[in-house]
Amino acid sequence: MAMLYSDRVMDHFSNPRNVGELTDANGVGEVGNAKCGDIMKMYIKVDKGVITDVKFKTFGCGAAIATSSMATEMIKGKTIEDALKLTNKAVVEALEGLPPVKIHCSVLAEQAVRAAISDYYTRLGVDPTPIVGEI
Ligand code: FES
Ligand code: FES
Repeated sequence: MAMLYSDRVMDHFSNPRNVGELTDANGVGEVGNAKCGDIMKMYIKVDKGVITDVKFKTFGCGAAIATSSMATEMIKGKTIEDALKLTNKAVVEALEGLPPVKIHCSVLAEQAVRAAISDYYTRLGVDPTPIVGEI
């Protein structure tokens, strides 16, 4: 049987990066996948417009864990502006693809990043909707 998952997905699933909570996070986002009920929580630490640290917790399938792990690596050290450009498509490409039935899992990562950034602005007293859009 052909391998369903790329080596990179297997790597991020078996050895996920940036797992856990950030006690000094100034943005936290939690999103759920309507399709399967899986949940992802993303913590970001923003300093002068740059995401200096990020951690996540995912209660979900292997593809959701691998995409969260990859997404945290892709936004760490980036400006908020750049992090908002992260798409689930880019995360899937960085993982060298996902099986078609697992593509819906990757949307969680993009949404969780947006939700965390949205929370960051809300805490600052700034309306996030014009910047982040609807979550
Ligand atoms: Fe999430 Fe399958 S529905 S693990
Ligand atoms: Fe639910 Fe993957 S099956 S996120």
